[in-house]
Amino acid sequence: MADPKKLYIKTYGCQMNVYDSERMAEALGGAGYVETQSPDDADMILLNTCHIREKAAEKVYSELGRFKGLKAEKPDLKIGVAGCVAQAEGEEIMRRQPLVDLVVGPQSYHRLPELEARAQGGEKALDTDFPVDDKFDTLRHRPKAKRGPTAFLTVQEGCDKFCAFCVVPYTRGAEVSRPAARIIEEAQDLVERGVREITLLGQNVNAYHGAGEGGDWSLARLIWALNEIDGLERIRFTTSHPNDMSDDLIEAHGTCEKLMPYLHLPVQSGSDKILKRMNRAHTAESYIRLIERIRDARPDILLSGDFIVGFPEETEEDFQATMQLIREVRYGYAYSFKYSTRPGTPAAERPLVDDAEASDRLYRLQALITEQQRAAQDAMVGRTVKVLFEKPGRLPGQMVGKSDYLHAVHVADPALSVGDIAEIEIIESGANSLSGRRAG
Ligand code: 5AD
Ligand code: SF4
Repeated sequence: MADPKKLYIKTYGCQMNVYDSERMAEALGGAGYVETQSPDDADMILLNTCHIREKAAEKVYSELGRFKGLKAEKPDLKIGVAGCVAQAEGEEIMRRQPLVDLVVGPQSYHRLPELEARAQGGEKALDTDFPVDDKFDTLRHRPKAKRGPTAFLTVQEGCDKFCAFCVVPYTRGAEVSRPAARIIEEAQDLVERGVREITLLGQNVNAYHGAGEGGDWSLARLIWALNEIDGLERIRFTTSHPNDMSDDLIEAHGTCEKLMPYLHLPVQSGSDKILKRMNRAHTAESYIRLIERIRDARPDILLSGDFIVGFPEETEEDFQATMQLIREVRYGYAYSFKYSTRPGTPAAERPLVDDAEASDRLYRLQALITEQQRAAQDAMVGRTVKVLFEKPGRLPGQMVGKSDYLHAVHVADPALSVGDIAEIEIIESGANSLSGRRAG
């Protein structure tokens, strides 16, 4: 038998891309590829790209340029661009960069084997359709190989919210939910292969409304069904929109045993004027009331968020409203970004905030978030928490895992193995992680 061909995938951006990269590797597995960790010995290089902020396309071009030497040495090497930049600018990439053999959008990667065959035949292969055939149906049966204890599982794709700054509704298209039975089947399969924690993914995951028994299911209903799977110990989901935090989902945070006490709930800004211009369809006040309800259901929940500073026409007063909201909510974690113009989005038409001013706001916001993050992490010292161990640490006999609250925890205990869940007493809070010892 011929040696398998080697595939190198580089993944940018969000967790949905991480999941897509896995599925692309599986799709190409059927065409005789195995994954490699280095581009140097690859027969195919795939860049799975992200388009959420500026300079994404430039990054892709400079990364592609770096493979020039490799392609000169190895003329049979195939180079592909996947993901959201491929979706948005695929044809342009093909025109501008002759190194590229293949372009595939996030909705058509189940057609990769066919595109690969066309590329092998010397064609330039491009597919950025939103095909009617169900990608997940084509990729229904996943390989049975054993895998690590945590996994992502995409349940919903696309977004109908059209926040004024965001390209997602254009690159990923309209909201589509996978049928509940398919998700349950995929989750059972993952558990049989060693997975103990599943993070349900969607650009707007809590708007999930997949077909199920008796009609469309909500995300909460799906979580309750997954809660029944023996061997699955933890369920998480991301990313959510405040307006889709339904009563049943809030309640599940208080009552569903396997649903973890962590919620990523982006608000973007604390100023009602800016929220309106962002087309967020909620106010700062309604967000804070929602957080109160979630905390009533699950008092120890750790909250994380996304923030954009320097959105067009944001004043210092608007920015102070965001800082005030952060002080009120008290986040355990947050991602913050300087506004970045995305051509084709409504906000791209509006006057920009001075760049130095926007950078200064980002600096001040991140200082406040860091303080809160520290406080949340330090508050774990002395507590006993459950940790799922994911990999060996750097020191001999050490293991690293995540607590229910998603904090990284180091434990030196040779009796621990990858995949174990153990009660750990937290003894120290370090720069970016906790350390502890087995309780009891
Ligand atoms: N500029 C800056 N940040 C953005 N995000 C989305 N679009 C933009 C943009 N144009 C941020 C939002 C979103 C996260 C995934 O990325 O905070 O929640
Ligand atoms: Fe983008 Fe999220 Fe807004 Fe959808 S809800 S448009 S993905 S920021």
